[in-house]
Amino acid sequence: MKILMVCLGNICRSPLAHGVLQQLVHRKGLDWTVDSAGIGGWHVGNPPDHRAIAIARRYGVDISEQRAQQFSDSHFDAFDHILAMDRRNLRSLMTQAKTADHRARVQLFLDDSEVPDPYYDNDLFEPVYRLVLQRCNELIDILK
Ligand code: 4NP
Repeated sequence: MKILMVCLGNICRSPLAHGVLQQLVHRKGLDWTVDSAGIGGWHVGNPPDHRAIAIARRYGVDISEQRAQQFSDSHFDAFDHILAMDRRNLRSLMTQAKTADHRARVQLFLDDSEVPDPYYDNDLFEPVYRLVLQRCNELIDILK
């Protein structure tokens, strides 16, 4: 199973989802590939936002070695599930997808709601982390 988490900048939400799911699948001994990417390329090559690194570290997850990458067409073939953090990301991915097969791989990370963007609101990192943790546990049960 190969799962790609996608948000706008690949420095806040998708790195958290990437790190949390990666740790959970490792603990459960699942042979899954987990990665993340951003719709935009502004932060390519950079580590996650320091606030994302800090909240993950508080919960025992180290995401400091991650480096941002921009989503590209090659990701459509490389991943079984491409999970968008919000509806704007979902729309971008659906617009970029050229085939029905590629579109079928794209869905929202949450069932029918969005992970709020914490970039301009420090207080959102904690609730975003909790949301991500809960959903990653659910995703393991849904997808395994
Ligand atoms: P993310 O948050 O999509 O959760 O990584 C953002 C990070 C950076 C920007 C926007 C959202 N930005 O505009 O640079």
